[in-house]
Amino acid sequence: MKPAIRTEDAPAVSRPVAALRGIAAVPGDKSVSHRALMLAAIAEGETLVTGLLEGEDVLHTAAALRAMDAEIEKHGDAWRIRGVAALRQPAGDLYLGNSGTSARLLAGLVSGYPVTAVFTGDASLSRRPMQRVTLPLAQMGAKFEDGTLPLRVRGGNLQAIRYTLPVASAQVKSAILLAGLNAAGETIVLEPAPTRDHTERMLKLFGAEIAVDGAEIRLKGGQKLKSPGTLQVPADPSAAAFPIVAALITRNSDLTVPNVMINPRRDGFYKTLLEMGADIAFENRRRLSGEEVADIRARSSRLKGVAVPPQRVPSMIDEFPILGIAAAFAEGETEMTGLAELRVKESDRLAAIAEMLAGAGVKCQSGEDSLRVTGGTVKGGSAVKTHLDHRIAMSALVLGMNAAEPVAIDSAGMIATSFPGFIDLMNGLGAEIGAL
Ligand code: S3P
Repeated sequence: MKPAIRTEDAPAVSRPVAALRGIAAVPGDKSVSHRALMLAAIAEGETLVTGLLEGEDVLHTAAALRAMDAEIEKHGDAWRIRGVAALRQPAGDLYLGNSGTSARLLAGLVSGYPVTAVFTGDASLSRRPMQRVTLPLAQMGAKFEDGTLPLRVRGGNLQAIRYTLPVASAQVKSAILLAGLNAAGETIVLEPAPTRDHTERMLKLFGAEIAVDGAEIRLKGGQKLKSPGTLQVPADPSAAAFPIVAALITRNSDLTVPNVMINPRRDGFYKTLLEMGADIAFENRRRLSGEEVADIRARSSRLKGVAVPPQRVPSMIDEFPILGIAAAFAEGETEMTGLAELRVKESDRLAAIAEMLAGAGVKCQSGEDSLRVTGGTVKGGSAVKTHLDHRIAMSALVLGMNAAEPVAIDSAGMIATSFPGFIDLMNGLGAEIGAL
């Protein structure tokens, strides 16, 4: 299938700013939003979800679930989801845009039902590896055509498996667990390293019995989920990372991002920032729908380079583009290793980060799975290729806020996949992002 053409794409430029101040309310967590829709769609009863990320990725999940008979509607601030006893055969292809989480988790979910679905996506998603989910799901009994999109899935009659994940991936773990809900027997997943556990937490919230013992997760098949009634999605720590780094590297800045999820499997980036000397504070800690949240306050800081321990990588896997920017403004070297997974994200992120930094005059050295950035003054004056990657686009715009010369990006359209309203939010805090 031909890649979809995005019509709203437009280049943008970010100019140096004087200060960033105020409240930066960022959208709901992407991972939690996908899972909230999926579990509510197959649970008994009605779920009212507030704080849902209304980014394109999540809206693609909603549209796919609707096409398989779940009722999903927005009412005021809340999304109302009425679950179905079984997903129905969709009438046409399910277009999932740029969203790897939709493709991989839905592959698992759909595998549990006697339906055939064809997933399609944009040029970036169509290049991403799907064998990591089709392999275990095929062992459970699902049938697949092709290891990349367009991907045909035929589900039904699953048998539970015991599976050791070859890569630390929450998407793969989640796909197997979602399939396991409708498999005969007990599904067991072993993780090589801890990854985000939103699926496990949310399955419990929906009344499932799931046992987590260190690296081993066990889930009995045939369990019916029950809606918790309401579910509140906390703000996305991966989205919060952009205004936070922007404030840290900009003089006279002080901003607060309210309601940010601080799940210990997602906080590696914040640990790293603290080690770099960042002035960030976690205020008003509390619990929200099975997750811990806090308001994060960030003030201008003199950052210093650090070595990021490779075992921390899974807990900050989406934050390396923006860490690259923080590193560019830090004193000394920042070393990142164990980054192989970055090569198969929305873009080859390792290459895209190195290209973005080098283009702006930042000294950086990349290896097969490593990156070393030498911080200092940043020249800028560059045009960044975003490679259909929202996090590269936002990182480049943050870079431009503090480089000597403005930084342009080829397209701002992809930002809407995970952070609609990013440019308006940043401009409201003092940024100067505009049309090229
Ligand atoms: C996600 C898991 C991560 C992450 C992605 C969201 C999830 O991917 O990069 O943005 O919601 O499970 P991997 O599982 O491929 O590491």
